[in-house]
Amino acid sequence: MNHELEVSILKELMEQLDEGKNIDAGVQYKMPTTGYVCPQIAAKERELFFQNHTQLLGLSQDLPSPGSYITNDDFGTPILATRDKNGDFRAFLNACRHRGVRVAQENRGRKTLFTCPFHHWGYSNAGDLINVPDQEHFGVIDKSCNGLIELPAVERDGILWVHPQPDGELDVDGLLGKTLADELAAYDLGSLIYAGTKTITKDLNWKLANDTFGETYHFGKLHKDTLGQLNYGNNLHLKEFGPHHRFVTASKAIDRLKTQPESEWDIGVGAGFVLYYLFPNIQLIVNPGTCTLVKIYPDPERPGRSTSQIVVYFSQAAMDAQADQDAGKVTPDMIYGANEDRGPSLAATMEIFNSTIEQEDYLMGEYQQKSAENGLLTEIMFGRNEPALHHFHTTFRDRLGQPPLEKISA
Ligand code: FES
Ligand SMILES: [Fe+2]
Repeated sequence: MNHELEVSILKELMEQLDEGKNIDAGVQYKMPTTGYVCPQIAAKERELFFQNHTQLLGLSQDLPSPGSYITNDDFGTPILATRDKNGDFRAFLNACRHRGVRVAQENRGRKTLFTCPFHHWGYSNAGDLINVPDQEHFGVIDKSCNGLIELPAVERDGILWVHPQPDGELDVDGLLGKTLADELAAYDLGSLIYAGTKTITKDLNWKLANDTFGETYHFGKLHKDTLGQLNYGNNLHLKEFGPHHRFVTASKAIDRLKTQPESEWDIGVGAGFVLYYLFPNIQLIVNPGTCTLVKIYPDPERPGRSTSQIVVYFSQAAMDAQADQDAGKVTPDMIYGANEDRGPSLAATMEIFNSTIEQEDYLMGEYQQKSAENGLLTEIMFGRNEPALHHFHTTFRDRLGQPPLEKISA
């Protein structure tokens, strides 16, 4: 993010804090709870948003070198993604052409030959069928046209994108738009190193999981002993980019910037996090030295269940600093400054973040899901201070062909 934009966002947040105001959409909405429970809506969402929509698979360092691979089963099409010998990102249907068994079983690793466990047909990491055992018994098979089914895949500015349909249109520029694409490119996401994944499957609709990233109204309440210790809550910068948005809230460290010249202001200090919501299901959170990718998926069978993959990446510099800290060469004060409101380690900070999502936010989502399934609570409300929720649901409803959110009249 350029410095001028950082300063303008920080000023907006400081002004809200100084004046005791939050962001104000000037309108409140109500929404039927059926969207969280209805099987027909859930089926349409899966079809439109997941099975026939470009998906963000990960970041470049998920496939750090030729021979690396990852698999993904989260959006309905089993994916095998590889980095081939030329260093190119490739994506395939993870299904053997003989009788459909998965050729790669693990979530990630290194392999140049994928041997199907059933009858040992073998495929290269470019998808070519290169080995058919006992071919004299099996009969003639044209290897050249029986490789793994390839899917559209693009690596752009450190992000891996895939389309779940072989003939799907993968237009990342059209999906993001130039302004957002340029802003994301400036983070150099491709240099961040994969650090780990936490999978959370819980009884809440995928949109309820997404909604927990849609306001800061709850920070000082629900998260008063966790994230609320580091961030003020009740303040928000929001910028929409078509169906996507940028969402920034102030950390308590923003107060220190007031004594510094603007030229030295750093959004990595003054913001609790900078979060990009990428339609339909991605929350991409960038902090100094780390990036957290939250990918949220509906359960294929149950509208009231979802899985979130929380994937953490660290910069090399952050990992080096952490290693020095672990070895006792430096202390957190030496890295962050004596008054910095940061946790003791990157890993610990991420653990706090993950457990906050699982044990606080998603617990609320499970309560919300139960209320919606009961059928007695037919509507919920979104306040003037929750415009990102307006944006999520306005977009979803528009794409699903549903009527717009209904305003609450005073
Ligand atoms: S199903 Fe893969 S080798 Fe038979
Ligand atoms: Fe939260």
